[in-house]
Amino acid sequence: MPETNRRVPAFGRAFARAGPRMDARGAAEHRRRLVEPAHGAVVEIGAGYGATFPFYPAAVTGVLALEPDPTLRGLALAAARTAPVPVTVKDGVAESLPVADASVDVVVSSLVLCSVAEQSVVLAEVVRVLRPGGLLLFYEHVRSAHRILGVAEDLVTPLWSRVAGGCHPNRDTAAVIARAGLAVQGLERFGFSALRGNPPLAHVLGVASKS
Ligand SMILES: C[S@@+](CC[C@H](N)C(=O)[O-])C[C@H]1O[C@@H](n2cnc3c(N)ncnc32)[C@H](O)[C@@H]1O
Repeated sequence: MPETNRRVPAFGRAFARAGPRMDARGAAEHRRRLVEPAHGAVVEIGAGYGATFPFYPAAVTGVLALEPDPTLRGLALAAARTAPVPVTVKDGVAESLPVADASVDVVVSSLVLCSVAEQSVVLAEVVRVLRPGGLLLFYEHVRSAHRILGVAEDLVTPLWSRVAGGCHPNRDTAAVIARAGLAVQGLERFGFSALRGNPPLAHVLGVASKS
């Protein structure tokens, strides 16, 4: 069994409360744009409370949404009932996807690669399940390019990751995606203050494909 991050049930409950406020501040629009290119068979890792489900386009034939946290998974199950495309919600982690090799058209990761124990392990699993030409759609917060802010994020990461469900604010996620052998085709970088009073954090919204 691959290593996953330590489960923090309190984080799931806190995210269920904070997430809708993030959505209202702009995260919902980021999610809509994230899944615009989705089509065919989709796996969404760390689906949370299902905030992305309403935005899946009609070109999607089905979504397998994996969520390890029980509180968030319960909310995702409810959200799946009103999704515009068929969504199946299951307990599961991104390090071990319950699908066959080269069987998936699109994998979606929204604010999850910050939280997994080892990004390279998850990305190897994404590469395994994607068909040739398949896409990884990602929306993640990443380490700041500003020298001082980046160092500040490095300093807070050990404590932050303990209280925030394993979240690492200092990861260069797009570079790790490219190192995993996926071709990053589109990458938008922007600052986003997810909650009132929070500093804007660097975010990326992108598409990477398997050759
Ligand atoms: C910040 S929340 C984002 C949730 C959702 N994707 C969204 O955009 O609202 C991080 C999510 O990653 C999930 N998660 C953490 N570690 C995971 C892992 N190893 N595999 C799959 N999901 C994981 C958490 O349970 C949580 O739902």
